[in-house]
Amino acid sequence: MKQKVIPQNALLKLGDKEVELPVVIGTEGEESIDINKLRDLTGYITLDSGYKNTGATKSAITFLDGELGILRYRGYPIEQLAEKSNFMEVAYLLFYGELPTADEYSDFVEKTTKHTLVHEDVKKFFEGFPSNAHPMGQLCSLMCTLSSFYPDSLNPNAGKEEIDLTMIRILAKMPTLVSWIHKKSIGHQVMYPLNKYDYVTNFLYMTFGMRSEDYIADPVIVDALDKLLILHADHEQNCSTSTVRMVGSSQANPYASVAAGVAALWGPLHGGANQQVIEMLEKIKSDGGNVAKWVEKAKDKNDPFRLMGFGHRVYKNFDPRAKIIKQACDNVLSKLGIHDPILDIAKQLEEAALKDEYFVERKLYPNVDFYSGIIYRAIGFPTEMFTVLFALGRLPGWLSQWKEMRESNEPIGRPRQIYVGATERDYMNIAIR
Ligand code: CMC
Repeated sequence: MKQKVIPQNALLKLGDKEVELPVVIGTEGEESIDINKLRDLTGYITLDSGYKNTGATKSAITFLDGELGILRYRGYPIEQLAEKSNFMEVAYLLFYGELPTADEYSDFVEKTTKHTLVHEDVKKFFEGFPSNAHPMGQLCSLMCTLSSFYPDSLNPNAGKEEIDLTMIRILAKMPTLVSWIHKKSIGHQVMYPLNKYDYVTNFLYMTFGMRSEDYIADPVIVDALDKLLILHADHEQNCSTSTVRMVGSSQANPYASVAAGVAALWGPLHGGANQQVIEMLEKIKSDGGNVAKWVEKAKDKNDPFRLMGFGHRVYKNFDPRAKIIKQACDNVLSKLGIHDPILDIAKQLEEAALKDEYFVERKLYPNVDFYSGIIYRAIGFPTEMFTVLFALGRLPGWLSQWKEMRESNEPIGRPRQIYVGATERDYMNIAIR
């Protein structure tokens, strides 16, 4: 077979001017043109709304091939990690780049466990939220609030040990905050962490436990949630992760940067889709379960309805996470003996869409959010909590990407624009005389 020849430079012709721009190739063969000097050389900038063709950074954390449906953290296939690893080990891998030795793992777990308690005064802020406040709004505020309790860890350029401690603190306190948000929504007293439990069990204990020590987590649920967290742990550059890097690039502290990631994740086109999927499936069910009608609605350009949990900016093939989650969903429901009619509708919807020319042509497949909500629901989480669970999973990714960005001393993110507004005109008094 003929080998592909990769040029060293790209030649750009603008009128009678020609400039050479370096070609940069990633370790998995991803091809790019380095335009760092484009404006200096030509006066031009590039225009790419939604950053569909823009590589904002070089990163060694996650590799994703949307055409082939590949996802790897630090080189390890997501399928292997979901089957054989656990969330704590994956967090370590994302943070530090390598799998831990047994000693490194237990040290990491011990350090994380030590920091699960949240300062009592954070509760005073928390108590101010109305009980029906959206969990994502609460999480975003609480993450920023945490920064005020650790003034010593606000410096993004602190030494390795201080940065490590801050990342571990955030990782450790997140399940406590998330469980409090759930407890508040149902009007129950918050629970404190019980550090004899592992990360996921402790979270389930604080979320669903009623009295100290009497909670026994179902291993099927612990395993399913651990898997879901692994599958959400990182996803290279996406709306929330790039937001974390962008905010962090101004040298804002890690709490503020992560809070910004939470805000970005909230939207229905990103992490908010998992909540929307269940709401959509419920609507289809109460409307009589006519799946074909809703597929037609999704195709109608005059109808704002979209099939939530379908389509992805980069996956033009099956989202590898969705494949694993669909399987896990079947397992969990059958092991827990739950029959959820919503799952039947989801499967019919998937089948109908995958056969439909509109979806086939546009390469729209179920994404990570399509089946995850059904598992969260089976575990007992209310729909409004789903996006917060996505955030809990994505946290190691956000922190690792923030760390990588600071360690490589990336410049402040500051895109340009093409101005299309009014040209210069003289001011005239109209309203104020
Ligand atoms: N239902 C119906 N049509 C769709 C859908 C959908 N879910 N997704 C995309 N399309 C159509 C879209 O109308 C467009 O059609 P046309 O070419 O005729 O104008 C075409 O497919 C391309 O869509 P796009 O909006 O230009 O693609 P994008 O890359 O900008 O958006 C997306 C990607 C995920 C925002 C979009 O597919 C979508 O809105 N999906 C539903 C929301 C969702 O499930 N989001 C979760 C994404 S996975 C979790 C995460 O990582 O964030």
